[in-house]
Formats: sequence, structure tokens, C-alpha cells
Amino acid sequence: MRVSNNLSLDGCNLVNLALKYGTPLYVFSKGMIESRCREIKEQFLKRYDGSRAYYASKAFLTLAMCQIIEKEGLGLDVVSGGELHLALKASFPAERIVLHGNNKLRQEIEMAVESGVGRIVVDWEGEIDIIDEVSKIKGQKTPILLRVTPEVKAMTHKYIQTGHRGSKFGIPLERIPYVVKKTISLSNVELKGFHFHLGSQIDDYRTYLEAVDVITKLMSDLREGLGYTTEELDIGGGFGIGNGEGSLTKPISYFTDPAMERIKARCLTFGLPLPSVAIEPGRWITGEAGITLYTVGAIKEIPGSCTYVSVDGGMADNIRPALYGARYRAEVANKMGRDKDKIVTVAGRCCESGDILIEDLPVPGDIEPGDILAVFNTGAYSYSMASNYNMLPKPAVVFVDKGEDILVVERETYDDLLVKQRGIRSALRV
Ligand code: LLP
Repeated sequence: MRVSNNLSLDGCNLVNLALKYGTPLYVFSKGMIESRCREIKEQFLKRYDGSRAYYASKAFLTLAMCQIIEKEGLGLDVVSGGELHLALKASFPAERIVLHGNNKLRQEIEMAVESGVGRIVVDWEGEIDIIDEVSKIKGQKTPILLRVTPEVKAMTHKYIQTGHRGSKFGIPLERIPYVVKKTISLSNVELKGFHFHLGSQIDDYRTYLEAVDVITKLMSDLREGLGYTTEELDIGGGFGIGNGEGSLTKPISYFTDPAMERIKARCLTFGLPLPSVAIEPGRWITGEAGITLYTVGAIKEIPGSCTYVSVDGGMADNIRPALYGARYRAEVANKMGRDKDKIVTVAGRCCESGDILIEDLPVPGDIEPGDILAVFNTGAYSYSMASNYNMLPKPAVVFVDKGEDILVVERETYDDLLVKQRGIRSALRV
């Protein structure tokens, strides 16, 4: 979408937004987030009885985001006391929250039990005793799922594979019968079923089928061996998005329909009752809804090498290129429609040679300081992984909706960065 030769999103001119709020700036299309939620409702929740969908809030979480998820009727996956605290502050209904984490603190378990979260997904054996004990003290019975490591290796970056043998996540497959036996004997936890999460940015549905095969066999063994019937199965998140260039984002049904068919078929084969199925997409909901705006500063042409176009952000607001080699597409937002006759390397401003946002980006030949660079598909794991490295204040977050812009997170100030600091002498000149 374009207004004159400026880029726009949901009826808002992005160059004007950069001027109004400053850069770097995270801009999110509220409509796109909502339409992803609605697709999940239409194509998954309405089609499969008893199914549930939790938004994996680690992808992008703010009070406003939480309110959208609440309004759209989805659940929320949280992974720490901080995420839970935010959700509760946003008045998100606790019963629609699932708590994850491979090393939950006792204090986080207490918070979850006290607030009455819908499910706790247990990641190691000792956690069950803590949940049982805490629940007993509170006089409650807590519904739990066991996270199983299904020993399936997803084709994705090594750092975001989670379901393979040797992963730090989940309970090893062979331990499950023992853990189930123990769990069903406890009086303050209620074992609802199982969970697996294979990794992130997975673009082939067959990865899920491999895990479904493993888990349904396990369900069958547990029914035969222990008389335990699985009521719920959570197949995690990880549904990949396109890179905005060649590859397009697949509909949610590309992942969920084959998984549901396979679950049904396997349950039929093993004579198992069909469990209710849950999913936990994060990136798939917000990834494409977000654009980061930067202002171009230093431009360095290095003879025989490359041209660096430096922007006023980088790895502090988007660590993904440096950490996972993630690739992004970008446009010069105030010079749309021009020939792109120059290839540049977009560099961040952190004191790290690895702070390169984009390599080999075609841009108009007259790119100059002051231009606004819009980097697409940055809606997941950029704001949520942002840091204050080099004492850079975190950018503001703005939602756009049918021509309107709404500031949902203010830009940090230099003083914000010092709020928790104490000098060793009383008087500080700030
Ligand atoms: N469920 C569980 C238990 C998870 O651990 C995750 C992500 C999700 C759901 C959601 O995954 P998604 O649908 O967003 O792929 N920082 C990395 C991604 C780490 C994902 C961690 N867990 C990145 O920027 O690629």
C-alpha cells in the first residue's frame, strides 16, 4: 500500500509516523493481528470440538496486545512470572492462561496456582511435587499437562529446535510412564494430558505428524499399561511465516488440518478416545503484522567491499539477524517506487561487528541520511527480545488501525535506563 511515494500500513503513512514518534519505531497492524486470530477461530477452533488456541506471548507482549488476544477469545501462553503479571494486569482471564517454562521458580508456580491459571505445563519431574505441594497449601487441585520430548528434530535453526532427543525442554520419552504413574497418585494435581513443542519457524506440517505418531503411541501404551486415558493434547506452536520475499506464510489449516487428521486416524487405530487438541502459535499471529522503522544515518562506501547504510537501531531492537542469521526484507519508506540500483549492507549502531541487520539489500541509488528504512515482518521476537545494550533506550510501539495510530508503549528515556540504579555516593548528577 502506498500514499504518494511513501509507504503506508493500514491507512497510516509510515514516514509521518516516524516523524511523529521518532525512530526506531515498532509499528503493528492491529487489523492483521486480529485477522490472524480470526483465521484460527474459523479454521481451527470452530472446526474441531474442544480445541483451544493459546497465543505464545513471548513472541510479542504488551498490555494492548494482551487486550486484543482477550477480545478475540484466544488463550495466552506465558513462560515467566513477568509475562503472567502483565497478563493479570491486563485483566486477562487466568483460566485461559497456560504457564510454561523449563525451570519455573517456586514463586512463579505459587503465582500461577494462586491466580488460578488454566493449565501448568510440567517440564521436569521435580516440578510436579512443587505444584502438588503449593496446590495443597492453597487448598486447590491444579490441572497440568506433561511436556514430552518427542525426539523429533524440526528443520529450523539449531537454536530454535526444541523437540529433539537431548533437548533441554520436556521430559524424556522413556520417563513418561513412570512420571504418569506417580502423578496420578497425587491428590493436588490433575493430569489432563500431554504437550509437545517442536521448535519455531517450522514450515513443513510433516514435522508435526512425526510427533503425533510418537505421542499417540505413548498414549496407547499408557492406556494399556496404566489404564490412563489422555484427555488433552497440546501440539505447541512453531508455525512458520514467510520471509516477505519468495516464501509466503501458509494458512493455519496447512499445519492444523493434517495434524488433526493424523490424531484422529491414530486414535482410531489404537482405539483411543479423541483428546481435545490445543495449539500455541506466537510468530504466526504477530510476525507479519510488525514493521520496524529506522532513520538512515552514516553511509560508508568501502571501495572493493560494500556500502554500509547505518540505521539508528539494530541488534538492541532486533537481535534475530545476529543470533539466528534471520533475513529480512526492507524498503526505503520515503522513496517507494524508485529503481533500486544500489546494493547495500544495513548496519546497526551497536558496537559489535555482528550488528548487521540486512545484507545485500537493493535500495534506490540516492539513499541518503534522513531516509526512513522500513524493515518488514519484525512483529515477533524483536520487541520482546530487545535489550538496552550500549544504553540504548527501547523504541516505542505504535498500533495502526484504519488510518489511526495508537501509542501502546512509550519510547524509553535515558532516565528510564537509570531508574533501578544506585550510585555508590549519594549525589548523582543526573
Ligand atoms: N509454545 C512453546 C512451548 C514455545 O516454547 C514457543 C516458542 C511457542 C509455543 C511459540 O513458538 P512460535 O509459534 O512463536 O514459533 N526467539 C526465537 C524463537 C523462540 C521460540 C521459543 N518458544 C526467534 O526469534 O526465532
